[in-house]
Amino acid sequence: MRKPEISEKELLAKAMQSGGPFIELMTEYRCAIMEIETKLQVLNSEFSLHYDRNPFESIKTRLKSPISIIEKLERKGLEISVDTIEKHISDIAGIRVICSFPDDIYELAELLIHQDDITLIRKKDYIENPKENGYRSLHLILEVPIFLSEGKKYRRVEVQFRTIAMDFWASLDHKLRYKKDLENPNEIASELKDCAESIAMLDQKMQQIRNKIEH
Ligand code: GTP
Ligand code: MG
Repeated sequence: MRKPEISEKELLAKAMQSGGPFIELMTEYRCAIMEIETKLQVLNSEFSLHYDRNPFESIKTRLKSPISIIEKLERKGLEISVDTIEKHISDIAGIRVICSFPDDIYELAELLIHQDDITLIRKKDYIENPKENGYRSLHLILEVPIFLSEGKKYRRVEVQFRTIAMDFWASLDHKLRYKKDLENPNEIASELKDCAESIAMLDQKMQQIRNKIEH
């Protein structure tokens, strides 16, 4: 029986994972995720103690896979090296923060941005300005110091803030993006866009009700 062929990309991805500077870089991004995640957990604990509420429902974290890194560098027409990854890819470390209410998103984001060891590199507010397909989330690229035995290093983390409803929407949209053999993709896209608008209205209404209850 013939062995399934391994693509050049897969070989490269394997080589990247076999040790050395790439693994070191990925470890640093993992540490950067831990730093930001801890900051968020601290805020959550403080809010539940002082205000009896949790500003977020859940956090998901991920490191970009070697294959995805290679594909992104290829798309950008860049060579594959630790140096280009460091300089040109800001979403190796990813954190998704799922909140119940839109106001919690902005409150948490502001609290994080203003911590004195964090630098805001970029902010994209797809809640204020939704994407054409209806996508809504607040994206921040943050730079955070990590303290290693050799000294301090700064690493970037992409933090996406969404409501539970926006996250529900985005996961269905994600399925649509990766389905290639659909008969009526435009119709589905248009239905999804309608859903995104209903969700935005629902989030606003829920927010208003909470405001009435709490003030
Ligand atoms: P990338 O090169 O894809 O990272 O895009 P970008 O650098 O312009 O960043 P952007 O902030 O627009 O989006 C980054 C991430 O947000 C993506 O990797 C997805 O996780 C998420 N995202 C952005 N747009 C959409 C969308 O239309 N649908 C879904 N489901 N997710 C999206
Ligand atoms: Mg990305």
